[in-house]
Amino acid sequence: MSLFDHSVKPIAIGSDHAGFERKQYILRVLEEKGIPYRDFGAFTSESSDYADYAHPLAEAVEKGECYPGITICGTGNGISMTVNKHQGIRAALCWNKEIAYYARAHNDANILSLPGRFLSEEEVYEILVTFLNTPFEGGRHERRIKKIPCG
Ligand code: RB5
Repeated sequence: MSLFDHSVKPIAIGSDHAGFERKQYILRVLEEKGIPYRDFGAFTSESSDYADYAHPLAEAVEKGECYPGITICGTGNGISMTVNKHQGIRAALCWNKEIAYYARAHNDANILSLPGRFLSEEEVYEILVTFLNTPFEGGRHERRIKKIPCG
């Protein structure tokens, strides 16, 4: 099932200052494709703390208000570490389309995390499209992802 075709919920998107430019690029792509989104900030490229945007975004995905999420910081690490503190979140740090494919197919990732300072717009585009169009395979992977939460 393609998330592009079947998503009725807005995509949650957020970044810090280091991911801001790539976030704005993704917003333009989503607008061109008519995909709804909720922007959790940052709203400028002024220095900011990724956790301030990551926690509200993760809560919106956990509550089912948004699906999926996209988070971006300089390396992708700080913001994915933060959203992954939430038990209902499976955020995958993706730096190429192959990793994005398996993040969906094997991990049923509900947040795509991107290293904004290390990806071109073209690379972001192919990762984004792969992530949004790849279904979860289920089967043995269902059993494995059920064992991820620790609470
Ligand atoms: C900001 O300089 C940078 O540390 C942040 O965007 C991120 O890469 C942290 O993991």
